[in-house]
Amino acid sequence: MINRGYYGEFGGGFIPEILTTTFDELVDAFERVKTDPSFWQEYMHIISTYSCRPTSLTFAENLTRYFGGARIYVKREDLNHTGAHKANNVMGQGLLAKRMGKTRVIAETGAGQHGVATATMAARFGFRCTIYMGEVDVERQRPNVFWMERLGAEVIPVVDGTRILKDAINEAFRDWVSNMDGTHYVLGTACGPHPFPEMVSYFQSVIGKEAREQILERENKLPARVYACVGGGSNALGIFSAFLDDPVELVGVEAAGEGLDTERHASRLASDNGSVGVAQGYKTYFLQDRDGQMKETHSVAAGLDYVGVSPILAWHRERGRIRFEAATDSEVLDAMSLTIRKEGLIPALESAHAFAQAFKEAADLSVGDIILINQSGRGDKDIFTIAEAFADPGWKDFIRKKGNDYGA
Ligand SMILES: Cc1ncc(COP(=O)(O)O)c(C=O)c1O
Repeated sequence: MINRGYYGEFGGGFIPEILTTTFDELVDAFERVKTDPSFWQEYMHIISTYSCRPTSLTFAENLTRYFGGARIYVKREDLNHTGAHKANNVMGQGLLAKRMGKTRVIAETGAGQHGVATATMAARFGFRCTIYMGEVDVERQRPNVFWMERLGAEVIPVVDGTRILKDAINEAFRDWVSNMDGTHYVLGTACGPHPFPEMVSYFQSVIGKEAREQILERENKLPARVYACVGGGSNALGIFSAFLDDPVELVGVEAAGEGLDTERHASRLASDNGSVGVAQGYKTYFLQDRDGQMKETHSVAAGLDYVGVSPILAWHRERGRIRFEAATDSEVLDAMSLTIRKEGLIPALESAHAFAQAFKEAADLSVGDIILINQSGRGDKDIFTIAEAFADPGWKDFIRKKGNDYGA
């Protein structure tokens, strides 16, 4: 079934020859720690004493009443240190890099959450740190850039291509090729060449393990459906992995942006816009033209506009184990508003995609059913985008005054 990083026809490791030794070293190190209980213990220790595991499972009582169907539960990955599930992966890869004797880490980031998590891990573990971020994302996620730099990371804006996540990944690989010996590339999602998809999912599997136990303890039954947003696929695989062998419907929600019938979305699996190809070192569904050139993507959520998707998710789609849907920017903003008002939860724009799809379907399920939504991160980072979307006059005034203070 899984053959050195293949999931059906997807995955693999299409890497430049110069990186072969580095990847072999990484595969060996990862294989060793998977069978070393002391590594998992060390990992659990750091994510529970430094990050905030186990994260809570919250019953969304008011939303449940509002929709009048299934009981809605939210897995609170927003409560991780640095505000998103990204912390689970970086802490694991950081420990691995330490065991491999590395002194420097590099990473790509889109929404900035993975960049902040990596910079935080680097500060804690004493690594030098460089973060690559598309120039467009640098502009829309400026608060995260601020924190990465305060944490001691060098943030390099990427000006090539469409200046978003895929371009940042290209630059990070370029850096790695020139600095293989002392550097580990902390890839932030379950994509890229083997062993990254497996390794990132492995570290994120803690989400599903906890959520499954918590829901059984609270309700004594499994959820009917689990919803997670899908950028590269790491939070979705993290929560879904514990339910794969259960009679539970798993729903991955992509960014429909301004609509699936426009060119401004990032849906690779929920629609027939994606096609199979090899890029960035692995085989999966990409948004590409007939010549294999990557297309421009769009989402209101910076973390969901990647052109590729985890090969593991592509395989689960082919075998019909996971259903894929997509939510538009405006559905997402509505779902976010409702969640804030009804529950006092502030989901990240990425996570709000999962809420939006769950809300479309909640009333169709019966009152005895349970819905589980993964809140992959918190929405504070999105304040600029959200204030703009809601045309908040007080916020505009505040920004104008700040601009005046800085003589802009
Ligand atoms: C809060 C949050 N959720 C979800 C994602 C999407 O990534 P993934 O699909 O790997 O979980 C991101 C990416 O930046 C994110 O910041």
